[in-house]
Amino acid sequence: MSKSAKKAVFVCQQCGREALKWLGRCPDCQQWNTFVETVVTPAASARPLSPLEPPRERSRVTLQDADRSPLPIAEFNRVLGGGIVSGSLALISGDPGIGKSTLLLQAAAAMAGDKSTVIYITGEETLHQIKLRAERLGLDGEGLFLLAETDLEIIQHQIEQLSPRLVVIDSIQTVSSPELEAAPGSITQVRECTLKLMRQAKLSNVPVFIAGHVTKDGSIAGPRVLEHIVDVVLYLEGEPFSAYRLLRCIKNRFGSTNEVGIFEMKEKGLIEVSNPSLAFLSQRGRDAIVQMSRLVEQFLDVLDYHFVGWAV
Ligand SMILES: Nc1ncnc2c1ncn2[C@@H]1O[C@H](COP(=O)(O)OP(=O)(O)OP(=O)(O)O)[C@@H](O)[C@H]1O
Ligand SMILES: [Mg+2]
Ligand SMILES: [Zn+2]
Repeated sequence: MSKSAKKAVFVCQQCGREALKWLGRCPDCQQWNTFVETVVTPAASARPLSPLEPPRERSRVTLQDADRSPLPIAEFNRVLGGGIVSGSLALISGDPGIGKSTLLLQAAAAMAGDKSTVIYITGEETLHQIKLRAERLGLDGEGLFLLAETDLEIIQHQIEQLSPRLVVIDSIQTVSSPELEAAPGSITQVRECTLKLMRQAKLSNVPVFIAGHVTKDGSIAGPRVLEHIVDVVLYLEGEPFSAYRLLRCIKNRFGSTNEVGIFEMKEKGLIEVSNPSLAFLSQRGRDAIVQMSRLVEQFLDVLDYHFVGWAV
């Protein structure tokens, strides 16, 4: 690539805003000291998805183009709108330690089998760690391929070779493309790698799940920019000291965002809670007691009033 094709700009690491000079405060997200000088090569995103594909008349676009494969984890499947859409890119994010890798490994194993391969790519853990987790969760490894890699070009090549049923990348912040001069983990890397994966997913029809970290202000590190690129955005959430986890969908290009999945984190992984009223009984029980004591107090006040009234 010629030098003239590259340009230096300043990019806000929080929201992706670009500026020609360094700014102390981002006019978009109002964060301080977030601008970093970045050399950008012409974005992959600027290229058309597939230059060889001619436009198709609507009636010629078959239903299989939006094929959904059901995920055998009912709560997860419901949140996805009834299955994994082929060629879709979904982002699963949440706080550190909330259970993203656990849920994704469970989903990967559930989709893998003797006739279907799934590749789980990690840039955060060793293969040994993943294997230990899989053993703890009691997952059968048939059809499940593990790869510890952070180089996007190698990742894309392996996906192409394997042509799996599902790709899991844990996490998008660890992936980087040597083609780009930006530092690994920087917004430019995260955004461009996501765009390249999106393009590959669409061209090959292979669905991709990516895990994303959340920054302290609650946005996805990388950050809001990713939410616009991907097809589906899921959040895994939980209260401190509680084993319950909620899987919420905040964006879905193929379904509604009203569904919530409920899980409990146990030694065997995220176990579906099919009866949420039972799960939240303790909280509701507490609320009921508080409400009852308020009623008793009001009742006593009324009694008090009448008693004083008689006494006078
Ligand atoms: N033996 C166990 N029994 C029950 N829960 C466990 C056990 N081991 C780990 N966990 C739970 O799994 C959580 C870690 O899950 P996981 O690694 O999937 O989270 P993550 O969101 O991927 O984290 P990170 O942000 O570090 O990638 C721990 O915080 C803990 O709640
Ligand atoms: Mg993890
Ligand atoms: Zn900003």
